[in-house]
Amino acid sequence: MAPVAPDPAPDVRQLLAFYLEAGVDCALSEEPVNRLADPDIAAPVARTEPTPRPPPREMPAAPPILRGDAPPAPDEAIASAREAARTAPTLAALRALLEKFDGCALRATATRLVFADGNPEARVMFVGEAPGRDEDIEGLPFVGRSGKLLDRMIAAIGLDRKSAYIANVIPWRPPGNRTPTPQETQICLPFIRRQIELVDPDVLVTLGNPSTQALLSTSEGIMRSRGKWRDYDTGTRVIRALPTFHPAYLLRSPSYKRMSWLDLRAVAKALGTARALST
Ligand code: URA
Repeated sequence: MAPVAPDPAPDVRQLLAFYLEAGVDCALSEEPVNRLADPDIAAPVARTEPTPRPPPREMPAAPPILRGDAPPAPDEAIASAREAARTAPTLAALRALLEKFDGCALRATATRLVFADGNPEARVMFVGEAPGRDEDIEGLPFVGRSGKLLDRMIAAIGLDRKSAYIANVIPWRPPGNRTPTPQETQICLPFIRRQIELVDPDVLVTLGNPSTQALLSTSEGIMRSRGKWRDYDTGTRVIRALPTFHPAYLLRSPSYKRMSWLDLRAVAKALGTARALST
């Protein structure tokens, strides 16, 4: 049988397509870094001798840390996030703490912190999941396509970014817009909870499943949870919270805009602005 010819080496275009498909959509530095050449992580292995088997361990070995200092263990990071968030007396102090917080690995890959936008005195606060590419570039939440729709949703209840407050559960863009890990969410939760406590809105609107599940401690999917009022304990008082669809989801499934309109009307009613809306 004729030997199978190996695939030809991919050209640059094919490699780029491969990276794009894998979620790589921006360069982190001008020069490529060969992390496997780092002597700390790539100790040469003698080829002629068999590699001795490590003694059995109770826990699997941790994956190698590619660069920089070792991040704190997740439990440690969650505890230090709680402590840091608890001690922030103001939104400015909370933002400053987050700028320096190194317990979440997303900070290292994001371009900048995306803290919040809008009016900290607002009576309504909208919370999404995590910034995307446009937000990472601008440093403001919801400025891309879904942000434009969120602006229209907010305008539909007679408000705008000067009268509403907008933030995310995760304040750094996950690389390639991947879903944040449960650990990343747990590490960032104390900060968004403190942010909600400091803004102290009358109504909290959670946008989409991840934000709803993380903030309202429910495992219910958004199809069930949307439009149902819940209590949210800010730490200083109990406010009303309403889950609704994430604008990115509405862009993909416009037929759900009708339900989201019902949710927004309920928010307007709770704020007492419903009469100002046209029917
Ligand atoms: N999606 C989010 O959840 N948040 C943003 O800021 C942008 C898109």
